[in-house]
Amino acid sequence: MTRITYIEHTGTEHSVDVPDGLSLMEGAVRFTVPGIDGDCGGACACATCHVYIAPDWAGLVPPMGELERDMLDFAFDVTPESRLACQIKVKPELAGMIVRTPKRQY
Ligand code: FES
Repeated sequence: MTRITYIEHTGTEHSVDVPDGLSLMEGAVRFTVPGIDGDCGGACACATCHVYIAPDWAGLVPPMGELERDMLDFAFDVTPESRLACQIKVKPELAGMIVRTPKRQY
């Protein structure tokens, strides 16, 4: 289990212990964290798991793949910190990670 803190655009925080090996999207859905839908189930085909990963944490997650980059074209309010939560697996090194959710998914 790794403690991940999801922060909604309103500032509401949800700190949950996500089983290692699940994605950040699966962790949010399992604990009913609002703001991450995950409509495609993690197949990198919907962009409804769009989140923001602060630069402090960016070095600990895998680099963005081409498919993820293409799917982000369908997300709202994309920034340099944007990632798809289904493409990042939870692991102990991510303990304490902050994941911000956008104002809306499409
Ligand atoms: S859950 Fe569909 S792209 Fe991440």
